[in-house]
Amino acid sequence: MANQLAISGGTPVRDTEKDPWPISPLNAVEEWESEIEPRLREVYLSATEGLGGQKIEELNEKYAEYSGTKYAMFMPHGTDAISAALAGALDLDGFGDGGEVIIPNYTFVATASAALDRNCTIAFVDIDPDNFTIDPAAVEAAIDPNRTRAILPVHLGGHPANMEALRQIADQHGLAIVEDCAQAHGAACQGTKVGALSDAGAFSFQSSKNLTSGEGGMVTTDDKDVRDRVYAFMNVGRAPGGARWEYPRLGWNYRPSEYLAALLIPRLGRLERQTKTRNANAAYLSTELKQIEGFTPPKLSPWVTQHGYHLYCAKYDPEGFGGMPRSKFLEALGAEGIPCSSGYGAPLSREAGIAHVAKKYPRLIRTLPSPVAEQVCQESVWLFQNLLLGSRKDMDYIVEAIAKIQRAWT
Ligand SMILES: Cc1ncc(COP(=O)(O)O)c(C=O)c1O
Repeated sequence: MANQLAISGGTPVRDTEKDPWPISPLNAVEEWESEIEPRLREVYLSATEGLGGQKIEELNEKYAEYSGTKYAMFMPHGTDAISAALAGALDLDGFGDGGEVIIPNYTFVATASAALDRNCTIAFVDIDPDNFTIDPAAVEAAIDPNRTRAILPVHLGGHPANMEALRQIADQHGLAIVEDCAQAHGAACQGTKVGALSDAGAFSFQSSKNLTSGEGGMVTTDDKDVRDRVYAFMNVGRAPGGARWEYPRLGWNYRPSEYLAALLIPRLGRLERQTKTRNANAAYLSTELKQIEGFTPPKLSPWVTQHGYHLYCAKYDPEGFGGMPRSKFLEALGAEGIPCSSGYGAPLSREAGIAHVAKKYPRLIRTLPSPVAEQVCQESVWLFQNLLLGSRKDMDYIVEAIAKIQRAWT
């Protein structure tokens, strides 16, 4: 029966075996043959797979151009990119006290661990209920004039944080801003891309991301001094253009391989088009899903001129679905052939690894009240970026699956 839910033995709205969702990255033979294989071959035959190679330089130039920043530096991971961006923006060697960084209490663990790694302490603050990004009012209330040195907003799921409000606060209190853009390639505020809205931006190219090389990261900045410090951090203390055996600063080796840059160059060329597709599909999806009581599509804040749509972050209210809990809804939606997730299970301050550090070293972590983050952890439903690369018909499958679940339960 068409109306019987797939979790109860009915036919799924989408048969994902016969009709799989688009995959991202593409990993298609045509892409391999026309774009990837020739570049990997070039690196291999050049016998310059690391230092001195050309691919990373080319990627850095193209990424800087894409982001609208003067500089971009490829790194092995997004986590390292955040550490490097903080090291650059705050001139941290990692040995002295790095001061306090304010971060949202709804994010991936690396936002916090990268700051702790640079010997900063952290203050967790609440988020905006409409877009799940750091709440500027909560930031302002949390500032400790004796300790706070930076704000580290996360463009969660690809929705840019309120950078204008954060900039005003930062300027007023003499703070730096470093953006965690790990989930936000291509996102823009009032026409300016994320990563170009602060002292430094940090991106991730980990395998789930909208632009990926399996693992990888990038730091963007307009500031030459920040660039020099990030460069030293990742390249054993060297100066850009400096001699190979001279180390004007202390640094580490966070240099990635040329092969990864060779993978990213053609993929970067497709990012803007894919981002536009995701935005168009998300807009259509939201218009349709708005009609379904109890399911709230993500809201776009007025400053967003382009969402990154790494995640489509919606909210679920059991009242619209006959009182069924979210866990059951996610199970039912998955069974209908729509991959989905509840997202982060708790505000980051309550995750065991962080809570353990806070207990052992109370001086390192301040947690401000985070009722909105708590609430969002209970209500959120995430759909992933690859679904948004599908066709209009694919979006109709999502709408139909949610409507079907509601019909069955109400
Ligand atoms: C918000 C956020 N920050 C930082 C990272 C860390 O990036 P990576 O996994 O490349 O180290 C990720 C993703 O994994 C992330 O989602």
